[in-house]
Amino acid sequence: MNLILKLASFCRPYWKKALLALLLLSSVVVMDLSIPRLIQRIIDQGIARHDQAVVIHTALIMICLSMLSALFAIGNNYFSVQVGESVARDLRDALFLKIQTFSFGNLDRQRTGQLMVRLTSDINAVKTMIQISLRIGTRAPLLMIGSLILMVNTSKILAMTLLPLLMGTLIIIVFFITKMEPLFRGVQQKLDKLNNVLQENVAGVRLVKAFVRSGFEEERFETANNALTDCSIRVTKFMAAMSPALTVCVNAGMVIVIWSGGLQAIRGELSIGQVVAFTNYLLTTMTPLILMGMLSNTWAAGLVSARRVNEILETSSEVTDKPDAVIFHEKIRGRIVFDNVSFHYGSGSDEPVLKNINLVAEPGEVVAILGATGAGKTSLIDLIPRYYDVTSGKITIDEIDIRDLKQENLFAQCGIVPQESILFSGTVRDNIRYGRPDATEEEVIAAAKAAQAHDFIMERPLGYDSRVEQRGMNLSGGQKQRIAIARALLIKPRILILDDSTSSVDVETEIRIQNALADQMPRQTTLLVTQRVSTALKADKIVVLDKGSIAALGTHQELLISNQIYREIYDSQLGSASDIAEVRADRQESIKK
Ligand code: UTP
Ligand code: MG
Repeated sequence: MNLILKLASFCRPYWKKALLALLLLSSVVVMDLSIPRLIQRIIDQGIARHDQAVVIHTALIMICLSMLSALFAIGNNYFSVQVGESVARDLRDALFLKIQTFSFGNLDRQRTGQLMVRLTSDINAVKTMIQISLRIGTRAPLLMIGSLILMVNTSKILAMTLLPLLMGTLIIIVFFITKMEPLFRGVQQKLDKLNNVLQENVAGVRLVKAFVRSGFEEERFETANNALTDCSIRVTKFMAAMSPALTVCVNAGMVIVIWSGGLQAIRGELSIGQVVAFTNYLLTTMTPLILMGMLSNTWAAGLVSARRVNEILETSSEVTDKPDAVIFHEKIRGRIVFDNVSFHYGSGSDEPVLKNINLVAEPGEVVAILGATGAGKTSLIDLIPRYYDVTSGKITIDEIDIRDLKQENLFAQCGIVPQESILFSGTVRDNIRYGRPDATEEEVIAAAKAAQAHDFIMERPLGYDSRVEQRGMNLSGGQKQRIAIARALLIKPRILILDDSTSSVDVETEIRIQNALADQMPRQTTLLVTQRVSTALKADKIVVLDKGSIAALGTHQELLISNQIYREIYDSQLGSASDIAEVRADRQESIKK
């Protein structure tokens, strides 16, 4: 019921068109219903009495009515299509907007393939349901009720004889409709699964090839594909039984009418015209029934889809602004404090990913976060822009709890370079300007220079106008990373978050990027996630994360002396000779010059 109301609220803006469609439809039904009456008149008053004028006159009326009825039906179609398409467009908009508000936690739970199916196939099913309802869906019951009344009006006795048959037919239809809905839900679920497999495979087709896993993937796809086919066949088989069942009912009705009506006509209790009109009304009662039976699948599918679309619309984002959320009015200093923060992802194990993190990043400091893979580095920095909310403890920026901030304002302070660089199709310039479309050419170039991207961009014939393919396919990993860094720098963030963002860049270039970042005035607070000790060397603070806890905290020199774990990492990566550090520091100096 709730669902229907929700759907109705989407139709409301188009109620005038919908009403017009229904009015036109009612006129069509009235005209359709008057045809058997006119046939009755031709037979009884024209043919039986040899009155040519009545025959011609009535036939002309019938032709006019038919033409008018066709015209009105076209009008009804036109408005129904408009209403359906408009509602579908609004639904797509609403879904899209909703998905934009989803937090990372929501998105982890909604698989991409599922969201795609809801945005496309499900909305189409809802659209078809609306259009069908405004056309045949309303026409059929109106025709049926009208015909029933006129049948009784033509001959009460004959109508009463048919009553049990009509009831039986109705029961058959209700049976089919109720059975059909769960079957359709099954089909949509199977379609979801297929889309998930498809989505993963199309996105990762190179990997599948590289690992020679196409056999395995084919099997996985085939399983999903076959499941969908089986389910669809089952639905179709079930529905296939319905039409013949209803045809039998119609034919039985005809036999009853001709038999009993014929006998009554012979006895002179009914005119031939009445019998003919009655058979016509019987047909107009039964045809809509069959039509409705056939439409019931559209309705069942539409309702299932409407429910699925509604599920998304009713999901509320896990991270939302407080009603009294504040914004930073002035430029922030960028002091970030983690105050006893613990965190675990909602799904799966309850084992916390981060445990009692206490950490302060002073304005302008570079804090390097070092740790083995899976230590929780990405999780830690994802908490700063509130991609996820902390489970306990709090994070403050300039002494304000980030949960009290408007999220948009929070985003505006943070330049984020995610672990996986995501680029959109378009030009290099558009990709760098993504966060600030109004940036000037000089600003774009300055950001690209700082990210050490300018040179390789200029080597391309079209420079900043060169095309970036979907997901940056035509760029190397390091090139993508540098464009992503330039994109983050362009918004001139007070807080810069680099998640292993130079992992694919050679060491020399990495040092140049670090130096360029250090030269920015005033310096932004930088959180630098890395697995390489060499990247962390010059940071003001180094945090060593181990299984979600801080294992060590201090400068390189301090940690080298005091911390066993850090020394082990250092030794394993750069060798035990401490002079390597000096060589490295020398090289940094020389590159800087
Ligand atoms: P992280 O993604 O924070 O690790 O996952 P990391 O330190 O950045 O690792 P690398 O260097 O990028 O490889 C920390 C833990 O959180 C879990 C993972 O299983 C991992 O053990 N995790 C991560 C989730 O449960 N859900 C997620 O969405 C992401
Ligand atoms: Mg990570």
